[in-house]
Amino acid sequence: MKKIIVTGGLGYIGSHTVVELQLAGFEVVIIDNLSNASADVLSGIKNITGIQPQFEKLDLRDKATTISFFEKHQNIEGIIHFAASKAVGESVTNPLLYYENNISTLITVLQQIQHKENISFIFSSSCTVYGQAEKMPISENASIQKAFSPYGNTKQIGEEILQDTAQIAKGLQVISLRYFNPIGAHSSTEIGELPGGVPQNLVPFITQTAIGLRQQLSVFGNDYPTEDGTCIRDYIHVVDLAKAHVIALKRLLNKQHKTSFEVFNIGTGTGSSVLEVIESFERVSQQKLNYKIVNRREGDVISAYADTTKANTVLGWKATSTLDEAMLSAWKWEQKIRKTN
Ligand code: WQD
Repeated sequence: MKKIIVTGGLGYIGSHTVVELQLAGFEVVIIDNLSNASADVLSGIKNITGIQPQFEKLDLRDKATTISFFEKHQNIEGIIHFAASKAVGESVTNPLLYYENNISTLITVLQQIQHKENISFIFSSSCTVYGQAEKMPISENASIQKAFSPYGNTKQIGEEILQDTAQIAKGLQVISLRYFNPIGAHSSTEIGELPGGVPQNLVPFITQTAIGLRQQLSVFGNDYPTEDGTCIRDYIHVVDLAKAHVIALKRLLNKQHKTSFEVFNIGTGTGSSVLEVIESFERVSQQKLNYKIVNRREGDVISAYADTTKANTVLGWKATSTLDEAMLSAWKWEQKIRKTN
């Protein structure tokens, strides 16, 4: 059984990816420092797959512990690297936290594996690297703009570090997956998004408003140059996104990659406005959402949705869930966690 390390594997996207890896027959070892996740997620994963993943509480900023972890796990064949801070707003007010947690930890991990004969590395990146792209849909060769936030900059820098390292480290092959907007939860409602505190992202704020945890959703601006005036994004079901990681990993393990560093945009290819997401939620939940229009949010791009041609044809992956299916899964998850809390 091929052993795969998943850093940040108890997080939202990480946990859904661990499920898909186990279902695909991989042995998974999770590293997580639990700064933005709970160890309870392990039982959620086990309830879905029947397999309790190996888990080591580990902060990758602790270099000595990280070194001994990789000495202990010599026979790994792949790493999927999620561990990072990801709140755009927080990165603006605390940039050094983001450069330390997102960049220095990536370097530490790469230092442990760069001399290995054969290691496949999947990097969690983001469409935020494109900033406001000129052309929609956004393809992988769209120009990389000056990042809108330190968070976005850490993804750009992370990709550059990986590209340079993969050039030299002959045994290292890398795929960077640029996520659009992950939403929803596993159909079992055993795992899902657990935003700590007030959610920054649209969909958890919608479901928390609907369940009565939040008073009202604020829609950040309806004066954008779009059909209904609200921003457009590519909302992708987190399970579709998780499956893309397994397909990308297999591409590397099976030596199907063309170069040592490849990039794929992972989205549905369809753009949805904020108001369309609200309409979708109201359709699937059969209840009205309490929201108001307020001023724009600093740093928001007008529109971002993926050109999925490369992911569909080269990677051989395609999103299958609709926006309504993803929103319904998010709503079911919200109802489940509020019942158990
Ligand atoms: C989506 C739309 C908001 C909240 C960010 C990161 C990206 C990834 C996902 C980490 C925007 C509007 C939101 C609210 C609103 N993060 N909105 N009211 O900003 O596209 O992407 O999160 O991996 O890298 O950049 O996602 O969900 O915050 O916003 O009106 O309370 O919803 O203005 O138009 P975003 P989001």
